[in-house]
Amino acid sequence: MNGDYAIDVRGLSKSFGPRRVVNALDLRVETGEIYGFLGPNGSGKTTSIRMLCGLLTPDEGSGTCLGFDVRTQSAEIKKQVGYMTQRFSFYEDLSIRENLDFVARLYAMPNRKQTVQTAMEELGLADRAGQLAGTLSGGWKQRLALAACMLHRPRLLLLDEPTAGVDPKARRDFWDEIHRLAGQGVSVLVSTHYMDEAARCHRLAYIAYGNLLASGSPEELIAQSRLATFSVKDDNPALVETLRKLPGVEQVVAMGNVYSVSGQDGARMQASLAAQPGLQFEPAETGLEQVFIRLMDKVQDVPA
Ligand SMILES: Nc1ncnc2c1ncn2[C@@H]1O[C@H](COP(=O)(O)OP(=O)(O)OP(=O)(O)O)[C@@H](O)[C@H]1O
Ligand SMILES: [Mg+2]
Repeated sequence: MNGDYAIDVRGLSKSFGPRRVVNALDLRVETGEIYGFLGPNGSGKTTSIRMLCGLLTPDEGSGTCLGFDVRTQSAEIKKQVGYMTQRFSFYEDLSIRENLDFVARLYAMPNRKQTVQTAMEELGLADRAGQLAGTLSGGWKQRLALAACMLHRPRLLLLDEPTAGVDPKARRDFWDEIHRLAGQGVSVLVSTHYMDEAARCHRLAYIAYGNLLASGSPEELIAQSRLATFSVKDDNPALVETLRKLPGVEQVVAMGNVYSVSGQDGARMQASLAAQPGLQFEPAETGLEQVFIRLMDKVQDVPA
C-alpha cells in the first residue's frame, strides 16, 4: 500500500424522497487494499456503492474513484471499475461462455475469444463453459459474476455481497481469489454480512442508518470497542438467561455448551461471574460480531 487512494470521498449523502439513506459518508480505500463494508440490512451499503461507481449521483459530497470525479466523470469510472451487483444479473438461458462473450462485446474488447477463455480458466469455469447460467448452483453463479466483472481488467472491484448464500468452501475459494487479485494491485471494496469475511479484509467500515459508525482494521475495531469477553463452559441451557441478567454483562451468545459473554466493564463482569457458585469461566478473545452488535445496540439506544 503506497498511500494513494482507489476511493477517496467525503460527505457523500443520498436521500430517496424524505429519507436520507446515506449521510455524509467519508471513505478512503488505499490502492491494493481489501476494504470491507458492513452494516445491517437497509443501512445504505448498496446505495453508497452505486454512488461510487457513478450509477447514482450523490445529493451532497465530493471525491474521486480511481482519480476520477464521482460527480462528473462517471463514464471513465465505469470503464475501469468492476461492479458485482447484489443480485445475479446474467442471462439464465445463455451458457457461461456466451454470457462472458456478451460482456466482452459490451466493453468492445479486442481478442474477445481469448479473453473469455482466459477468464474462464482463471476462475475454474472452463470445464463448465457450455453450461447454461440458469442451471448453475449459487457458488458457480458467483464465480461467473466475478469472472464477468473482472473481464475488462478493472483496477477497482466493487463487490456487493458477492458470497451471500454460498457454501463455506466456495466462499473460501472466492476470497482466496480476491486476495490473489489484491496481490496484483487491484483494490476491492466488498460488502458482506459474514464475520469470517470481515476478518479477511485489511480494513473495515461499519455503517448503520446511513451513518459511518466505525472504521479501521479488524484488530483496531476490536480494540476500539473496549469489550472484554469471557467464555463460560456449562451445559445448562437455562444459564443463558441468568448470564444475561448479571451486572456488567451486555451480550451472551450460546455456542453449543460454551457461552461467550461480553461487556465493556470487564472487571465488573468478572466479579459477577465469580459470584456464581461453581461457574467455570475464562478470558476469551472478543470477535468482530460482538463489536458490530455493540455498535448496533448503541445507535438503537439513541432516540431518532
Ligand atoms: N431506488 C430507491 N428508491 C427508494 N428507496 C431506496 C432505493 N434504493 C434503496 N432505497 C432505500 O434506501 C435504504 C438503503 O438501502 P440499501 O440498498 O443501500 O441498503 P443495504 O445496506 O445495501 O442493505 P442490504 O444489506 O439489505 O443489502 C433502504 O431503506 C432502501 O429501502
Ligand atoms: Mg445492499
